[in-house]
Amino acid sequence: MSDDSAGREQDLSRLLVEERVFQPPPDFAAGAVVADPSVYERAQADPEAFWAEMAEQLDWYEKWEEVLRWDPPHAEWFVGGKLNACYNCVDRHVHNGRRNQAAIIWEGEAGERRTLTYWDLYRETNKLANALKSLGVAKGDRVAIYMPMIPELPIAMLACARIGAIHSVIFGGFSSEALRDRILDAGAKMLITADGGYRRGQIIPLKHDADYALRETPSIEHVIIVERGRFPLRIVSGRDHWYHRLLQEAESYCEPEPMDAEDILYTLYTSGTTGQPKGIVHTTGGYMTGVLATLRWIFDLKDDDVYWCTADIGWVTGHSYIVYAPLAAGATMLMYEGAPDWPERDRFWQIVEEHGVTIFYTAPTAIRAFMKWGNQYPQAHDLSSLRLLGTVGEPINPEAWMWYYEHIGRERCPVVDTWWQTETGMILLTTLPGIDYMRPSYAGHPFPGVSAEVLNEAGEPAASGYLAITRPWPAMLRTIYNDPERYVEQYWTKWDKATYFTSDGAKREEDGYFGLLGRVDDVLNVSGHRIGTMEVESALVDHEAVAEAAVVGVADEVKGQAIAAFVTVKEGNEPTPELSEQLRSHVVDKIGAIARPQSVMFAGDLPKTRSGKIMRRLLRDIAQGQVLGDVTTLADASVVEELKRRYEEQEDG
Ligand code: WTA
Repeated sequence: MSDDSAGREQDLSRLLVEERVFQPPPDFAAGAVVADPSVYERAQADPEAFWAEMAEQLDWYEKWEEVLRWDPPHAEWFVGGKLNACYNCVDRHVHNGRRNQAAIIWEGEAGERRTLTYWDLYRETNKLANALKSLGVAKGDRVAIYMPMIPELPIAMLACARIGAIHSVIFGGFSSEALRDRILDAGAKMLITADGGYRRGQIIPLKHDADYALRETPSIEHVIIVERGRFPLRIVSGRDHWYHRLLQEAESYCEPEPMDAEDILYTLYTSGTTGQPKGIVHTTGGYMTGVLATLRWIFDLKDDDVYWCTADIGWVTGHSYIVYAPLAAGATMLMYEGAPDWPERDRFWQIVEEHGVTIFYTAPTAIRAFMKWGNQYPQAHDLSSLRLLGTVGEPINPEAWMWYYEHIGRERCPVVDTWWQTETGMILLTTLPGIDYMRPSYAGHPFPGVSAEVLNEAGEPAASGYLAITRPWPAMLRTIYNDPERYVEQYWTKWDKATYFTSDGAKREEDGYFGLLGRVDDVLNVSGHRIGTMEVESALVDHEAVAEAAVVGVADEVKGQAIAAFVTVKEGNEPTPELSEQLRSHVVDKIGAIARPQSVMFAGDLPKTRSGKIMRRLLRDIAQGQVLGDVTTLADASVVEELKRRYEEQEDG
């Protein structure tokens, strides 16, 4: 076969895969939590009644008077209702027969294991809540959390929720500067951290890093430190407290604070199109209703499941689908501290086998890495306990979908591709595994009670365009912390103020299935992590040698996207490989390792349009090697001019 026909053959098989649909396995469908397709019509006919029914799955101190108050773009859900998220995640299970059931099965990277029953979780959460109070944290205060993936992380979140304090978890992979900025924006009074955590056998010295941030965060009065590994650190007396000592002294019961349905549960910072991350605000009643309902239905959650979501709790997936939804459901969930390839590339499959994981939820980036590592790793393990697989975070290509379905699910497990965002709080597009067929690389359609459309620039329905959400949903963000105008501007002005703009491109097929096409704004998705190009650009420009910087995303086989940076240097600086290395580490210091540019290219000038906008498409093509073999010629102004002219012609035409 010639290369050419082999290539065509491959393209053809790719197409075929996309057109293939998979029915739910009959035995799965027969026992599914949702087995009756009429749920869609029922919910569509009266979404508020549907969500009210879902809210009944929670325990309320006081019932709501009104399901939804919608003054676009501001929604209030379950108006007048009172509840406590921690009570719903812990106390009610202790009272209702799950006291000795495992809530969290934890595995450390080095192989340590801990199992916390609901009763253990109850005791520890109550004590920590009392400790927070004794250090002056009250309802409405903000608490920053910067921790590794250990059980004390969900415990810290729940303890905040118990007393009505607002937590703001900062992913442990963020740098001290990123931590500082988020603490400052939140005005946090307390920081809960750990001496360190493990990643690929290395120690991540969280408290040590946090100390840099704490020099410039005057709002922080106290720091609580969990001892994870007896890592060396400095204690500031009066300010810093050991978690285990506080708990020894704390009273064992703390009355949960009855919170208004619309009281803030947490803020979580995420990247947007400016250099400044946005503090997404989630409230209590609607959020808890939305995450619990979606978890139960989409993941087909049953009493004897062992549920594992591999995300880090520092991201929204961990907030919603490791902490709040599984615990509110009284599930047994697995939590793993470390990396998938530590000590070997079969670590995840070893965990699935040893703990009998039944539901497994991960990201396309991880799936593509597993694919690349080879089938021998999953093949070496008994994965027969698995019965449902999920993915989230980025569009999944058909090849990765098929690999997941065949090699992990062994063609027995439905795969749910779940589309959502930090802002949406809960999954909005997917399939229900017992009733909907699956279509590789299509997320599916709106969850019952949710309405979505693909709209063109003018706001008319189109086969391909922008994904819009056309009705409020309970777990929707309520605002951006400290920036209510940006909330309106960012999400509710593209069309009318009752239509939510997702910033994602999408297509819709005749069967109603939505296919996601990636972000349409300057937000990159690197290994499923959201990173704003402006944030990386600001980090680069912050370096003394840099005059101007532009950052684009380039396609990457495993990560989805990788970061390519273009930089012009200030007079008197030489564009050397050493400087390029320095700039890459500078970004790591400013943001964290997740934002490290894969390449830094120096340019005499950044190509701009006549109106002064950086020509990102040109830069992207250059970075992907599509227009210039030898990128060093970018320093040659005449070459850049020539390219600009060609791109402008294309764009005009
Ligand atoms: C992308 C993560 C395609 C999308 C929960 C969205 C997806 C952004 C999917 C939000 C999916 C998430 N298919 N794309 N199933 N899930 N995305 O806020 O671009 O970290 O806007 O939330 O991830 O990322 P975030």
